[in-house]
Amino acid sequence: MTVYFTEQTGFFRDYSPDRLITQFGSPLYVYNEAILRERCRDMVHLIDYPGFRANFSLKTNSNMEILKIAREEGLHADAMSPGEIYILLKAGFKPEEILFVPNNVSEEEMRYAAEKGILISVDSISQLEMFGRLYPGRRVAVRFNPGKGAGHHEKVVTAGKKTKFGVNPEKLDDIKTVLARYDLTLTGVSQHIGSLFLECGHYLDAAAILLDIAAQFETIEYVDFGGGFGIPYYKQESQPRLDIKKLGSGLTGMINEWVRSYDAKWHRGSAGNITFATEPGRYVVAESCVLLGTVHAIKSNYDITYIGTDIGFNVLARPVLYDSYHDIELYRNGELVKPIKLKQVTIVGNICESGDILAKDRSLPPVEEGDIIGIMDAGAYGFSMSSNYNNRLRPAEVLLRMDGSVSLIRRRDSFEDLIRNF
Ligand code: LLP
Repeated sequence: MTVYFTEQTGFFRDYSPDRLITQFGSPLYVYNEAILRERCRDMVHLIDYPGFRANFSLKTNSNMEILKIAREEGLHADAMSPGEIYILLKAGFKPEEILFVPNNVSEEEMRYAAEKGILISVDSISQLEMFGRLYPGRRVAVRFNPGKGAGHHEKVVTAGKKTKFGVNPEKLDDIKTVLARYDLTLTGVSQHIGSLFLECGHYLDAAAILLDIAAQFETIEYVDFGGGFGIPYYKQESQPRLDIKKLGSGLTGMINEWVRSYDAKWHRGSAGNITFATEPGRYVVAESCVLLGTVHAIKSNYDITYIGTDIGFNVLARPVLYDSYHDIELYRNGELVKPIKLKQVTIVGNICESGDILAKDRSLPPVEEGDIIGIMDAGAYGFSMSSNYNNRLRPAEVLLRMDGSVSLIRRRDSFEDLIRNF
C-alpha cells in the first residue's frame, strides 16, 4: 500500500493545500514546525558525549525563522560564506557557535570571519598560508579529505580522490611546516565526505580516519566529522530511514575510545573538554517541507503526457541538477486524490528549457487543470537554490506552527525585487 506522507503525518494540520495557495499564492514552500523540531532533536542527541554539538548547515535552508527554531533546539551552525555568517549572527547565533568552513575565499572574506572570533577550518595549504600571513600566532582548524567520499550524485561527493575539497592527509608534514612558520596552533580538524548517505559505514570509516589525524596533534580542541545524513526520498515505496541510533552509538563508542588513548598519548588529562561536532543540513530540514504548485496545462506531445505546472527549475533545481527524485502527491478540493486509474505522466515547469522536468514517468491518478501538486521533502536545497531565472518570482514560504497558526516567513518576490539592483 502506498504511504502518503502528508496524510500519515497530518502535515497540513487544519489547513488544506488549496486554502494555503489561495491565501499565499502558488507555488508555495510550506513548512511544518513539529517535524522540523523533531528532526533537530534527532541531530542534537545523535552522540552521547558532553562535548558534542550539531552544526546546522544553513546552505540547505537559510530562512531566518527556520534558523531561529534550529537555534532554539540547540543546534550550532557551520557557514560557507560571509553571507551565511551575516545571517547566522542576525538569527542570534554567537560567533563561538559557528564554524567557518569556506572554500577558496579571499583575504577579505577570511578577515570577515576571523575578526568576529569565528573559528575557521581552512580547505587547503594555500589558504592555511593566507591565514598565517593575516593572523600569525592564532588558532586554526584544517579540513581534511579522508580519500573516500559518499553521496547521492557525483556532484555532491565531497571527499575522495576526484574532488576539490579538503587537504590530503598525506600532506600532514607540509601542514606542520606552515603551522610552525606562522606560529599557528592547530586546534581543530574537520571533514565532510558528501551529501546523502543512508548506510553508516562510509561515515564511520571516514570518522576513524579523521580521529587518527587528530591524534597526531597535541593541541586538538575541536573535531568535526561533517554532514551528509540522508533522508528517504522514496517514502511512498517505504524506503528505510538512516539508522541514526546505530550511527550515533558507533560514533559515541569511537569517541570515548579515542579520548582515552589521546589522553594517554599526550598526557593532557583534558581531552574530555574536546568538542566533537557534525554538520547536518538535509536531515534537519528536508522532511519538514512540502512544495505546493498548481497544474495550469495538460497535453500529450507524441507519446508523452505532460502535466504543466508553475514549479519550474527556478523554484526547485534538484531534479534538473542531479536527476533527484521527490515523491509527489496530488490534491483536489482540499483532499488528497487517491491512487486510482494510474497513468504515466511527466511533470514539468514553466521555464523556457526542455530540461525543465520535475518528475519523469510518474504514475498519477488522472490530473485536471487547477489541481495542486505537492513535492515532498523539499525543505533542503529547495528555496536556498531557487532563482529568478526567466524573471520568475521566487515563491513565498509559510510555517505551520505547533499552536495551529500559519505564519508567512518569507514573502513572495515582487516585480520591484526584479529591478531592485539596477
Ligand atoms: N558541511 C559541508 C562542508 C557541506 O559542504 C555540506 C553540503 C554539508 C555540511 C551538509 O550536507 P548535508 O547534511 O545537507 O548532506 N544541493 C545538493 C547538496 C549539496 C551539498 C553541499 N554540501 C542537493 O540538493 O542534494
